[in-house]
Amino acid sequence: MEYIEPPPAPKRYARKTKEKFRKVALKDRRKRQIVIEKAQIRDVEEILELVNGFAASNLMLPRGPQYLYENIRDFVIACDRDVPVCSLTESREVLHLIVACGSLHVLWEDIAEIRALAIHPDYQHLGLGSKLVEYMKEEAVQLGIKRLFTFTLKEDFFKTLGFKRQSRAELPSKVWGECTRCPKYFKCDEVGMVLDL
Ligand SMILES: CC(C)(COP(=O)(O)OP(=O)(O)OC[C@H]1O[C@@H](n2cnc3c(N)ncnc32)[C@H](O)[C@@H]1OP(=O)(O)O)[C@@H](O)C(=O)NCCC(=O)NCCS
Repeated sequence: MEYIEPPPAPKRYARKTKEKFRKVALKDRRKRQIVIEKAQIRDVEEILELVNGFAASNLMLPRGPQYLYENIRDFVIACDRDVPVCSLTESREVLHLIVACGSLHVLWEDIAEIRALAIHPDYQHLGLGSKLVEYMKEEAVQLGIKRLFTFTLKEDFFKTLGFKRQSRAELPSKVWGECTRCPKYFKCDEVGMVLDL
């Protein structure tokens, strides 16, 4: 009988993943027209691009179109109007580029989670992350939510916004729902943080 060599087993973590983002020709700060608004159906593809760009480096949970369509009403976006976007093959003008997103997901009568907070690398440290969290905080207050929660690798960022780290034992069981979908389930490195409103 002919012996067929089996293919080699894939090496664990052999392939390094890299963040992939559209190249943006950054405008002068004064010429930027950044608008924060609720997301619409037309924004799904760009939001996925932003979130999955960071998910490729294990900074965030990857998301698919079904999740986005089902939860689009949770999402808030920041857009820069009239940004020239360069692709590999062409240079073109777009009127509307999503440069940041975040979502507020109600978990129970008194608690909501901040998920999928992502700021395009060229727009970080401009206060956008803080502004989106403030926006979602306002939404949560209007809904009657008493506590905000997030799982994150960016503890210091959330600390600047008043969030406090909470031990796993103290977290309500409702917050673990998403963990079952997470590739880091068995080796979670994120911390739970809460903010009382
Ligand atoms: C973390 C993140 C949301 C911050 O957004 P941002 O718009 O850059 O933050 P802001 O400009 O509002 O920052 C306010 C302050 O928070 C702190 N901060 C911001 N990013 C930080 C980071 N990566 N690590 C630690 N502290 C940070 C700083 O004190 C900052 O003030 P400074 O810019 O004057 O130093 C953004 O860097 C990001 O999208 N990262 C990649 C995706 C990610 O990790 N998302 C979080 C998932 S929960």
